[in-house]
Amino acid sequence: MAKTTTIHDCRLIEFPKNHQINGNLTSITNKEEVPFDIKRIYYLYDVPGGESRGAHGHRDLYQIMVALSGSFTVTLDDGNNKQSFHLYQPYQGLLIPPGLWRDLDTFSSGSICMVLASEVYEEADYFRNYEEFKLWKSSK
Ligand code: TYD
Repeated sequence: MAKTTTIHDCRLIEFPKNHQINGNLTSITNKEEVPFDIKRIYYLYDVPGGESRGAHGHRDLYQIMVALSGSFTVTLDDGNNKQSFHLYQPYQGLLIPPGLWRDLDTFSSGSICMVLASEVYEEADYFRNYEEFKLWKSSK
């Protein structure tokens, strides 16, 4: 239930690594490391160094964020508490269940943020207003 989700429902997932002298490989598999069916993949790139993104919440969407290159910080907010994760390892993903506000900042230049998502893009799933998000979280 997205309304009752807290920051404690987020976690870092470690994906399988195949590290070799001639380069590394990581694989991500539906229903194995990912606890939902991936319906969409998108990625942020050419984000100017130091820029911010996010500033929204989702009603039903599950996501996993991966720093494919470079680094950035994801701050999650359940309306009562906040937790920040600095992502910089391409073999780690941050699982973000629905019902959390997120801010992304401190992008290093050239970084790539890949997002695995449980649903197709739907603007109606977004909270773009923090006060509206907080009201929804505190409502019965
Ligand atoms: P948004 O989700 O607000 O990006 P961010 O959290 O990185 O700041 O989306 C930015 C714009 O891109 C917004 O106009 C919606 C559009 N968009 C799509 O068309 N398809 C998508 O899958 C996503 C995630 C966004």
